[in-house]
Amino acid sequence: EPAAAAPRDLEGLRVLVTAGGTREPIDPVRFLGNRSTGMQGYALAAEARERGADVVLVAANVTLDAPDGVTVVPVETTAQLSDAVDEHREASDVIVMTAAVADFRPARLGDHKTKKRADGEIAPIELVVNPDVLAGLVARRLPGQTVVGFAAETGDDDGDVLFHGQAKARRKGADLLALNEVGHDVGFGTPDNAVTFLAADGSTLGSAEGSKRDVAAALVDQVLALRHASSE
Ligand code: CTP
Ligand code: CA
Repeated sequence: EPAAAAPRDLEGLRVLVTAGGTREPIDPVRFLGNRSTGMQGYALAAEARERGADVVLVAANVTLDAPDGVTVVPVETTAQLSDAVDEHREASDVIVMTAAVADFRPARLGDHKTKKRADGEIAPIELVVNPDVLAGLVARRLPGQTVVGFAAETGDDDGDVLFHGQAKARRKGADLLALNEVGHDVGFGTPDNAVTFLAADGSTLGSAEGSKRDVAAALVDQVLALRHASSE
């Protein structure tokens, strides 16, 4: 909890946050999912609310308590998340996609539980690509709207975390991309986080490290700075 009263610098702004991780059903009892817990998105929703925003939180499979005063829209699949975002998109000044959106889903949904077979064989699960919700938001961005993405990256043979993050920032075209290094002691399900803020051209705007609430506060500051710069 912050010691001093939070500034009410988001008063009058409508903020849409997606959090958690989408699940794609394989059959009535199984799904493809990911490890996102929703903590960063929930911290952001709480921060934005406390600073005076009207907040809608689209929550994909999150088991956390809803922050006070925030409207929660629970969803399971990427299609449901996409529909919920579509419904609230036009009424939002700031949209932040913290959710880990499943990149693929099973091409077909079994109508009954897939049973083990006596011969030990198992049919492969065919996958199809999900729509990119963030790309859709950027493509249809309204005047004065700020669209923010998150990206979790690891370094690999092609380049380090920043290299991949910069490429993603340019590819996605969001006003702000919060770049998150995964695979160390920060990331999924941990109380702390560390992010670098990138502009749409890949340039670094700043960074934040600490609790997910600290990172949320820094992200709000970045959004306000961008909005002030673009309204001048
Ligand atoms: N995202 C989205 N819809 C998808 C996939 C991702 O809206 N189908 C959003 C996430 O919510 C996040 C941002 O895009 O804000 C970046 O997600 P990430 O998984 O890092 O990017 P991808 O383009 O899916 O690239 P990768 O191949 O690295 O997973
Ligand atoms: Ca992805």
